[in-house]
Amino acid sequence: MSEGDHLRQYRLSGAPVLSSDAMVPPVGFFDSGVGGLSVARAFRSYAPLEPILYFADTAWFPYGGRPAAEIRKRAFAALHALIARGAKLVVVACNTASAAALSDLRAAFPVPIVGMVPGVKPAAAHTRSGVVLVLATPNTLDGELFRRVREEYGSGVHVRAVAGHGLAELVEEGRVGTREARVALERLLGPHVATGADVVVLGCTHYHFLMSDIRAIFPELTVVDTSDAVARRALAVLREEGLVAPDGAGPATFELIASGPRARFETVARSLVPELFAAHAETTA
Ligand code: DGL
Repeated sequence: MSEGDHLRQYRLSGAPVLSSDAMVPPVGFFDSGVGGLSVARAFRSYAPLEPILYFADTAWFPYGGRPAAEIRKRAFAALHALIARGAKLVVVACNTASAAALSDLRAAFPVPIVGMVPGVKPAAAHTRSGVVLVLATPNTLDGELFRRVREEYGSGVHVRAVAGHGLAELVEEGRVGTREARVALERLLGPHVATGADVVVLGCTHYHFLMSDIRAIFPELTVVDTSDAVARRALAVLREEGLVAPDGAGPATFELIASGPRARFETVARSLVPELFAAHAETTA
C-alpha cells in the first residue's frame, strides 16, 4: 500500500469527532488505539492550555504482531496526518511504534518528536529482589530500542521480557477491570512474581489502563509506568523549542481522529479518559 493510500484512508474515515477553531497549533499524539490516551491525559494535566490532536490508527490495531516495516509505514502516515493538521510537536504515544520508527521519524520530519522508552532505569532503581519484568508487545521486546535500554540500565539486575499477548486487545475492547483481564494478567505475570520478580515495567501504553487490575492481583509488585514522565518530557521540549501556547490561550481543545470505525473506539476512550472529553464539553457548553 502506498503512502497516498494510507492518507486517503485517514481522510475518508478520520473526520474529527471533537474539534474547534483553536488558533494555537496542537500537540499531536499517536497510537494504534486507546493506549496513548494515558500519555495525552497526563500531558493535559501539566499543560492545560495546549490543544491536543490525537490520532488512533484503529484500522491497523493491534500493532503488536505486525512486521516492523509495516508499523514504520503506519507511523509515517500518522505523522503526515498530524503535521498536515498543524501539530507543532508529536508524541509517539506507543512503545511499539517508537521501537519500530522513532529515529527514522526524527530524521524525516521537521517537528520535535517525543517517544516511549521502556522504563528499565526506574525499575532497576526500585527492585529489591533484583528481578524486574518488562511487559510489552512482542515487537517492542524484539526491537533495538529495548535491547539498548536493557544493556544500558539493566546490567545490574535480571530483566525478564514478558510478551503481553492479548492484553492490548482487552484494553482496546473496554474490558479493563473484568475477570478476563485479571485471568490474563495472572497467567502472564503470576509465574514470574512467584519466582521473585518485584517490579513490572509497563512497556505498552495500553497496559497503563490495567494498572488497577495488576495492583489488585499483585499488591506487592511495583508498577513502573512512563506515561507521566513522557508527558513532562513533551512539555519540556515545547519550552526548549519556544512552542508553548501563550498565556491566555485557550480554551484548549481535544480533537480525536481515527483511521478506522470510530463508534466503539470513542465509547471506550470516553470511559478510560473522561477528563479529556469533559474538559472539551465544558469549553463548548
Ligand atoms: N499501545 C501500543 C504500545 O504502546 C501497542 C498496542 C498494539 O499492539 O497495537 O506498544
